[in-house]
Amino acid sequence: MLEVRDLHVVYEDVILVCRGVSLSVPQHGIVALLGANGAGKTTTLRAITGLLDVHRGRITSGRVLIHDREITGADPARIVAAGVSQVMEGRRVFAGFTVEENLRAGAHTRKRAGVAAHLDRVYEMFPLLAQRRTQRAGLLSGGEQQMLAIGRALMAEPRYLLLDEPSLGLAPRVVEQIRDLIVRINEAGTGVLLIEQNAAMALSIATHGYVLEHGRIVLDAPAAELAANSDIQEFYLGLGAEGHVSLRDLKHYKRRKGWAA
Ligand SMILES: Nc1ncnc2c1ncn2[C@@H]1O[C@H](COP(=O)(O)OP(=O)(O)OP(=O)(O)O)[C@@H](O)[C@H]1O
Ligand SMILES: [Mg+2]
Repeated sequence: MLEVRDLHVVYEDVILVCRGVSLSVPQHGIVALLGANGAGKTTTLRAITGLLDVHRGRITSGRVLIHDREITGADPARIVAAGVSQVMEGRRVFAGFTVEENLRAGAHTRKRAGVAAHLDRVYEMFPLLAQRRTQRAGLLSGGEQQMLAIGRALMAEPRYLLLDEPSLGLAPRVVEQIRDLIVRINEAGTGVLLIEQNAAMALSIATHGYVLEHGRIVLDAPAAELAANSDIQEFYLGLGAEGHVSLRDLKHYKRRKGWAA
């Protein structure tokens, strides 16, 4: 189990973003973390993976545990070595490097022996990347770059994979491919924390889901229950009276309704 307990995070020592976030990801499950822009999803992920420093943020209280081992605020490389890998928002691949160089970079915490075999396993999972192993990553399409970013994270052989909005900006057909891939990764034994604004996609494969609002978990329930929840349907799945309301519109929607944004 990957566990976050009562996490509080501030940026610049003053901007309180996470106000007591608790969540857990079982290794056999896919857990969705939903929430509007600015809710604190990416910040929660940075806190888990030890990447707050570079953003002038820090954990003020709370804990992050992997299989009961404390990794709160540990060095990012140690967290990867402990079995937690992430795919950052905006699929940051090294554009000037080849596909294979990108994948190998994901294995930097692994011992050299075994990397080649694991590379073959990743290529097996992503035949498309195998075909383009010598191509520069910057020349790949958005969907292919997302796959490369996921493949790179898998090179560390994580027990838990954290994905920050993997479907963002991708065509529906490509989102389907990414979704199927996440299911396969999970079936192969990796727990997944899936941050998504695409709630329909996330809840269709998740076992459990959390909704974050202003740095607090406001809903915590099995995914099927969240998908059936009328608030979720209205705000997050766009099935409400106002029709097309997407998660990105949530703030405007609330403002229009005269609710606190
Ligand atoms: N480095 C930073 N310094 C100061 N404030 C920050 C920093 N990074 C994020 N924030 C603020 O923290 C809040 C949460 O941001 P975060 O990126 O975690 O949200 P999010 O839920 O991932 O949103 P999005 O859906 O837009 O990606 C926002 O108000 C944001 O402006
Ligand atoms: Mg974000």
